[in-house]
Amino acid sequence: MCGLEIAALVGALDTGGIDAATADRMVENALGLLGVPFGVALHFRINERDYVVPMATEEPSVIAAASHAAKRVRAGGGFFATSTDPIMIGQVEVHDVAAPAAAIERILAAKSEILAVADRAIPTLIERGGGARGLSVRDLGEGYVVVHVEVDCREAMGANIVNTVAEATGPLIAELCEGTLGLRILTNYCDLRTTRVTARIPVEALACDKTDGLTAARGIASASKFAELDPYRAVTHNKGIANGIDAVVVATGNDWRAVEAAAHAYAARSGKYGPLATWRLTGDEQALEGVLELPLAVGAIGGALRAHPGARLALDILRVRSSSELGQVVAAAGLATNLAALRALATEGIQRGHMRLHHRATSRPPG
Ligand code: MEV
Repeated sequence: MCGLEIAALVGALDTGGIDAATADRMVENALGLLGVPFGVALHFRINERDYVVPMATEEPSVIAAASHAAKRVRAGGGFFATSTDPIMIGQVEVHDVAAPAAAIERILAAKSEILAVADRAIPTLIERGGGARGLSVRDLGEGYVVVHVEVDCREAMGANIVNTVAEATGPLIAELCEGTLGLRILTNYCDLRTTRVTARIPVEALACDKTDGLTAARGIASASKFAELDPYRAVTHNKGIANGIDAVVVATGNDWRAVEAAAHAYAARSGKYGPLATWRLTGDEQALEGVLELPLAVGAIGGALRAHPGARLALDILRVRSSSELGQVVAAAGLATNLAALRALATEGIQRGHMRLHHRATSRPPG
């Protein structure tokens, strides 16, 4: 993208990145636009690459918190992140199945045929190197059987692709189950498409005004433990992670409701709601280590990106090369805002810094 185009896109942010006519094409009964501040977090280093991270958020202190935390993480070499393949799951539900065990056998025996039907429905994705990869089937009881068709969505978030696959394979699956075809839709619980990000921060990099680094690190590890023990705290802990995650997801035109739904299901996967990120002091007390893992379905093509110049600008600022890399930046932003919140809570308390920025937000003269 050339400088002129970027200048035009940055100018477009004055109206929220889209104009009223575009908004009218995007949703029904549009009355106008509702603005959310769009900024950039700095100092992010992920897998030895530097990023300027676009964030859209109405909450004061989130961008500053992400930037400060990223700077501290940088002191330990930055974030390191990995992702699984971008596999999304389409669910085909069949009910009134009289003999579920036999139905499951027939589905498994017809796996290649079902995957071939799936692939024929998504030629563009096949051209881009994606496609149906696997299948599983479960007896839910009471005559309900559900088939999961797993699709590698490459650079897309994949909702439309996977819904197409679920609808294309539905009739064959219902026939094999000898039951009534029910819902055909992706699951937003994309637990095969996960992102994991870690950070290792030398304790001295965590020091602040009145607290030395080791005390701050111990406080953060203890705050992590509190969230592991108590679901009430874990929800707020995860809200602090969502501050970073959602801001990047929104800025890049991705579906934050989908990301939130999956994240909370993952947080409760053991049967007890827990923190998505945890922090530990190393045995020698020299460093604090954090890890965040979550299912993350974000796309670097398609979706709102097609219509939304502001979201395209966000991706141009990020310069990510794949949906997985975008997910890694999103997760790093979440770990950063979590670190910033825990450090503040474990040292000076959240209100001092928070209120300073709130005051700045509310006392600024207009224009
Ligand atoms: C506020 O937006 C987020 C925090 O409550 C997160 C936390 O308590 O960890 C500060």
